[in-house]
Amino acid sequence: MNATTTVPTTPSGTTLVIGGTGKTGRRVAERLLARGRPARIGSRSAQPPFDWDDEATWAPVLRDAHAVYITYYPDLTFPGAAERIRAFADLAVKCGARRLVLLSGRGEQGAVLSEKGVREADADWTILRSTWFSQDFSEHFLLEPVLSGVIALPAGDVAEPFVDLEDIADVAVAALTEDGHAGQTYELTGPRLLTFAEAADEIGAATGRDVRYVPVSPEEYARLAVEHGVPPEEVEGLAALFSEVLDGRNAHLADGVQRALGREPRDFRDYVRTAAASGVWTIG
Ligand SMILES: NC(=O)c1ccc[n+]([C@@H]2O[C@H](COP(=O)([O-])OP(=O)(O)OC[C@H]3O[C@@H](n4cnc5c(N)ncnc54)[C@H](OP(=O)(O)O)[C@@H]3O)[C@@H](O)[C@H]2O)c1
Repeated sequence: MNATTTVPTTPSGTTLVIGGTGKTGRRVAERLLARGRPARIGSRSAQPPFDWDDEATWAPVLRDAHAVYITYYPDLTFPGAAERIRAFADLAVKCGARRLVLLSGRGEQGAVLSEKGVREADADWTILRSTWFSQDFSEHFLLEPVLSGVIALPAGDVAEPFVDLEDIADVAVAALTEDGHAGQTYELTGPRLLTFAEAADEIGAATGRDVRYVPVSPEEYARLAVEHGVPPEEVEGLAALFSEVLDGRNAHLADGVQRALGREPRDFRDYVRTAAASGVWTIG
């Protein structure tokens, strides 16, 4: 099947959501179930378990899966990711999957190689090339820094068009369940560029606390990240990744959300309001 071949909108079988308990996967699985679509979680804690580090666990979760949402952990730029994504995509097709949707990272060379593996599998594919998640500040590695009042990153005064995970999940579900997305690479950004200092100010204003951004070197970031609880085995790769992508290459808006969904993406301000109301940034 080539990239532009369409599959029926209501194919039989289940949708496998790799990383289905994670930040994007959880939202994708919830949306599929709300639409009455069977969804299976692919993760180490699911049954049957799925582990990127153990190829023997791959085929069992692919049984009856006509579509697969693929997220890699911890990041597509980490060593070995591209080879695994290619091998997994090929196996998915061999097991009967006709539609593959990959969550990728914008401006990441390592991620481009992983994208290639999915494009070259014999199925319809859609690539979601995402910029930094807004929810990194509330559900991921920037939560502890926000709570501490100091967001230290090797980002200089570069601006990012943070994208909301609710938009990513909406695009993923559209690509998994609707026609018209095969062969598309969607660059997913929010509607506004913000420097990390501006993002910190918006979070500070919403929480009534002093939240500051402090630019640091990649080496200093690595030291602080370990102190903030980022697993040591991930810190080196993240520092290298940030040095690569935080050089201004992503400091422009893209129209992936608009192209995929026909509507504007959610603004960072709305994300901050929702996150603040959830209490995630409340101390004590
Ligand atoms: N953060 C950003 O700003 C950003 C921006 C662009 C792209 N991305 C991409 O987003 C991807 C991550 O997606 P996400 O944020 O939705 O996921 P996530 O929140 O990091 O979730 C991790 C998920 O993966 C599972 N998992 C962890 N280790 C695993 C392993 N060895 N084998 C199988 N499953 C494993 C976890 O469940 P278990 O613990 O049960 O296994 C969980 O379901 C990365 O590839 C990254 O490149 C991130």
